[in-house]
Amino acid sequence: MTQPPVSIEPIAVPPALDAPGAADFITVAELLNAQLREFWGNDDFYGPPQAQLAGRRSTPSRRREILAARAGADIVGVALVNLPLTDNLHSGTVNVVVAPSARRRGVGTQLYAAAEQLAAADNRRMLMAETDHLLSDETGPIAGTASLVPQDAAALFASALGFSLELVDRVSRLELGSPADDEAVLEQARAAAGADYELVFWSGACPADLVDAYALLRQKMSIDAPMGGLELAEEAWNEARVRESEAQARDMDAEVLVSAARKVATGELAGHTVLEIFRNNPAVVYQDDTLVLEGHRGNRLGMLLKAANLVRLREAVPEARRVYTWNAEENRYMLSINERLGFRPIGYSGEWQKGLSAE
Ligand SMILES: CC(C)(COP(=O)(O)OP(=O)(O)OC[C@H]1O[C@@H](n2cnc3c(N)ncnc32)[C@H](O)[C@@H]1OP(=O)(O)O)[C@@H](O)C(=O)NCCC(=O)NCCS
Repeated sequence: MTQPPVSIEPIAVPPALDAPGAADFITVAELLNAQLREFWGNDDFYGPPQAQLAGRRSTPSRRREILAARAGADIVGVALVNLPLTDNLHSGTVNVVVAPSARRRGVGTQLYAAAEQLAAADNRRMLMAETDHLLSDETGPIAGTASLVPQDAAALFASALGFSLELVDRVSRLELGSPADDEAVLEQARAAAGADYELVFWSGACPADLVDAYALLRQKMSIDAPMGGLELAEEAWNEARVRESEAQARDMDAEVLVSAARKVATGELAGHTVLEIFRNNPAVVYQDDTLVLEGHRGNRLGMLLKAANLVRLREAVPEARRVYTWNAEENRYMLSINERLGFRPIGYSGEWQKGLSAE
């Protein structure tokens, strides 16, 4: 029998980057960065090891594990495993990355097997994974799950492991143009939305009097966006979880800009949108949640919220140059808003799922 090519071992998240034993964590962080650079052809997704230190720790709502593949002294691959702790206890996510020099030798398969074992030992019966794909001239327009033809390494790897493709997200980018663009869109949306709703903004911590309402928005976001065949249930959000995510963003040196719409007559929050900026590279902005609660839809609040947050972004972060967003291809409503705001497709990502057998 041939020897396994590598040994798989857990990597702990150290208390600090200069703590004893932190070298392996830093190697893993840079391996992940190298893969992102290789894929995107730029450093827009570079995560400084210090930020990854904060982002890869377990929290009360999520257990996070790192498995590394070691060949001699070298770490040649990594599997990140996330296990929700307050909802969706049947599920977990896994992300496998192998260094280019070690690919196609079974390292990814070995890492995945260890990740699956870890998840199964925690009674998870469904694993999810994401694959990224850039649009090329040959790709043509992507119109939903059926047209994503799995033929690159990531998709063939996921298929070979027994995952099935459940949802396709479009990845779009907005190059921030002249301020007048969003100001004009904002004025139109304001006129269309009328006087029934007012905008509320915050950066970092949600005001205490809004936090329960904001937790509900975050919770609804987990099921209101299209999910294809992904077997995910509504997440459980409360004030503690909102504060946990705010603390994590702070520790990652991220600035989080939130715009919310409040119904004037009742004071209830009707929707929200979130932009995230990492201070190490403020040129790059990530669009996070956007949601309008059922019962408040059809009032142009989606456009109002997004245009308002973009206007605010330019004021708060003048270095911002481009915004990335992910939307399900079946989410026509959200895609239309983004297209109107100037977002253009640059790629897509596949969301995959695999049921684990009982043994
Ligand atoms: C996808 C990735 C993790 C695969 O790692 P790997 O160690 O090369 O994978 P393995 O050698 O275990 O391959 C297992 C099977 O996947 C498929 N596969 C993997 N890479 C492939 C490629 N380049 N072309 C065709 N099939 C491929 C094959 O079926 C392969 O089995 P085979 O070699 O017997 O034909 C690696 O290419 C990588 O890190 N890519 C960038 C990150 C990424 O896309 N991660 C996937 C997230 S799910």
